[in-house]
Amino acid sequence: MATILDGKALAAKIKEKLKEEVGVLKERIGRPPTLAVVLIGEDPASQIYVRNKEKACEEIGITSIGIRKPASISQEELENIIIALNEQQDVDGILVQLPLPGHLDSQKIINLIDPAKDVDGFHPVNMGKVVLGLFDEGLMPCTPYGVMKIFEAYGIELQGKNAVMVGHSNIVGKPLANMMINKNATVSVCHVYTEDLKSYTLRADILCVATGVPHLIKVDMVKEGAVVIDIGISRVNGKIVGDVDFENVKEKVSAITPVPGGVGPMTIAMLMYNTVKAFKLREG
Ligand code: GUN
Repeated sequence: MATILDGKALAAKIKEKLKEEVGVLKERIGRPPTLAVVLIGEDPASQIYVRNKEKACEEIGITSIGIRKPASISQEELENIIIALNEQQDVDGILVQLPLPGHLDSQKIINLIDPAKDVDGFHPVNMGKVVLGLFDEGLMPCTPYGVMKIFEAYGIELQGKNAVMVGHSNIVGKPLANMMINKNATVSVCHVYTEDLKSYTLRADILCVATGVPHLIKVDMVKEGAVVIDIGISRVNGKIVGDVDFENVKEKVSAITPVPGGVGPMTIAMLMYNTVKAFKLREG
């Protein structure tokens, strides 16, 4: 029987510890950590994600400032919001929910965020620290960081293992591949242009999938005893499903994350972790 990697329980544990820490820090510094959450437009999925992030802040004692603007906002207006948040002394973290409406240049917005407040870890400075393995100094992207915490919590060793990352997005695939390299795994990165995906996934001791293609990974594509991390989330006929055919794959592997209840809650826990870290780095 595969171990079900319980991200939800691990996230709850991390948040509980953060709540205690925030209580102590608030006393010492005289104000709570503060996260600005910027949501542009009405995308229903983004609205849910943002609500969950704000709820987590409330649970832990982090102040969240919600900034909601219509999809028609101009690049310049949004840039001015970021510039103002960078300058605001009592704002520790700035999160711009992605994706942004098509007419906005997301990378230009991300580049404008003060790296010390970039709690999503998407700024090139923080991405550079991911590549170099400078965990202590920077703010690591939340989803890949959450995956690494799952490996750590369950004693899953990466050194010398064949790790396969399916998906090469800036927010998950690229940073997670680099984090696994820094743990001395032999990492292959596959994506939509990869020929014969199965020939790679079959060799994976550790298989991480972040494509957004529901049930892309079938049981005949995984190695017996592998560890499978499903970072996909899609809605199919009203049901939330991942990128892995969980019901069949779980019979063949040694450990697997469920969807929902796997990586998703860890993303939010690590966002809270980063916000507290940004607060501490700024306030000393
Ligand atoms: N959209 C999908 N995932 C994320 C994330 O981790 N952060 C932000 N800001 N937007 C996202």
